[in-house]
Amino acid sequence: MNDNGFPQLTTQLFREFRDYIHEKSGIFLDDYKTESLRTALNTLMRQRDILDYDSYFRLLTHEIHGDEEFKRLLDLVTVNETCFFRNPPQFDALRQVVLPAIVRAKQETGDRTLRIWSAGCSTGEEPYSLAMTLLETLPHPEEWRIDILATDVSTHVLAEAQKGCYRKRALRETPTYYLRKYFKKVGDESYCVDPSVREMVNFSYHNLVTERYPALVLGGWDIIFCRNVTIYFQLDSVRKVMNDFYSGLRDGGYLFIGHAESLYKINDEFIPMHLGMAYVYKKDTEALVNDAGEAKAGLCYVDFATAGGAAKTVRPQAAARPAERARFRRDEDKAGLYATAYEHFVKEDFAAAGREAAKLVRLDPDNANAHILLANVYVNQGRTDKALKEAVRVLDLQPMSTKGHYLLGLIREQQDQLDEAVREFKRVLYIDRSFALAHINLANIYRTRHMAADAVKEYNNAITGLAQGQRGDWADFAGGFLEDVLIEICRRNIAQLA
Ligand SMILES: C[S@@+](CC[C@H](N)C(=O)[O-])C[C@H]1O[C@@H](n2cnc3c(N)ncnc32)[C@H](O)[C@@H]1O
Repeated sequence: MNDNGFPQLTTQLFREFRDYIHEKSGIFLDDYKTESLRTALNTLMRQRDILDYDSYFRLLTHEIHGDEEFKRLLDLVTVNETCFFRNPPQFDALRQVVLPAIVRAKQETGDRTLRIWSAGCSTGEEPYSLAMTLLETLPHPEEWRIDILATDVSTHVLAEAQKGCYRKRALRETPTYYLRKYFKKVGDESYCVDPSVREMVNFSYHNLVTERYPALVLGGWDIIFCRNVTIYFQLDSVRKVMNDFYSGLRDGGYLFIGHAESLYKINDEFIPMHLGMAYVYKKDTEALVNDAGEAKAGLCYVDFATAGGAAKTVRPQAAARPAERARFRRDEDKAGLYATAYEHFVKEDFAAAGREAAKLVRLDPDNANAHILLANVYVNQGRTDKALKEAVRVLDLQPMSTKGHYLLGLIREQQDQLDEAVREFKRVLYIDRSFALAHINLANIYRTRHMAADAVKEYNNAITGLAQGQRGDWADFAGGFLEDVLIEICRRNIAQLA
């Protein structure tokens, strides 16, 4: 029995539920999720007066009631973290390259429709951000028929999305201009999306793994956003979903996936495009094959900085020469390796993350981000000597890297060289005062040295930065903790020091 009066969730039972959830949703729960699955099951079992897991499993798989019950379970096991304008470089790419390209193509054919699908939309911030971006980017939005479909498997988040009202945290990446124009503050805490934006989005339940895909008959989607959804899937489900997206997009359409995701070894039909700071995937059947029938897929680059704001695309055809193609291929491999390593890191599988990051470092020794990731892996594994070597390399490549100095601070702390650690954390704050974790690390050191006033000051500095809701470079080191949890930790420490 556990402390709630329910029996223990044995490994075998956990796997039974896990496999069923995987089969019906694609979501794969790693073993370390046993405890959170048990909590979810116990909550639902209590509501149904069911005391043993076998009976609940029978209800879940029941022909008639099973589907409804499964939706309730999904509400509790899905990860719904999101915010407006999440990953701003992707919205830059959308505004500066993707929408203008689609509009140009449609002008040639006289087509005035735009179909956009936000798949795995969570509480709606993503599709509403898309709607606002369209209103700001299309020259005459009123002349277009715009369909934005937003779908998810969690009925709970869909209900929230339809309300369209949010806490301030959801707006942490929202440019002030959009905040003023498209949101209304209601009461002290709530920001509601303007009705003109709300009515542009249709929300609907849809399971990407088990259901047929919507609207294929209409000639396909122009843009699909499916970000941070398949990150919790096994590879076979990711392949299925991405291949279905490929079929569902019209030729010339674009796919946006999460910044830590990649199509490396998943789908090689999409053309990867490096637009500014974002990766975007395009369906371009013409570009796939050249006149000689030779595959042409390669990376397209658009560099906003050198293009002076106007998009200058190197089309894949231009990259068809063998040497350049090989270079593009290597770049794509590197991006894929980084994405895979990062994905393992986020899931705290440090052994796998280290393996992939080490491969990337061998392939691309001057890639500071790869060294940062590898150093971070070693720090988490307590392999200080190896971490030190990587952090030093980061600072060779980028002497003002806050992440490099922060890593060095962590390493010095692990080596018990606290003076050196303080120096490094101060260096971080000299470069970027909003690096919240450096304030916290400094405060922790001051606390161990009984320098209460200095510690309180640093905890307060951290709280001030965190309360502004800006996720900065520090977020990679926060182990998944969100701002409100960190603020709570700081407050508790201040209370203990008082
Ligand atoms: C982390 S949120 C991502 C939200 C948003 N796309 C973003 O990047 O900010 C992932 C969402 O995917 C949804 N999801 C998970 N499995 C799904 C499936 N099989 N079909 C549709 N949505 C799914 C979850 O319910 C959750 O709301």
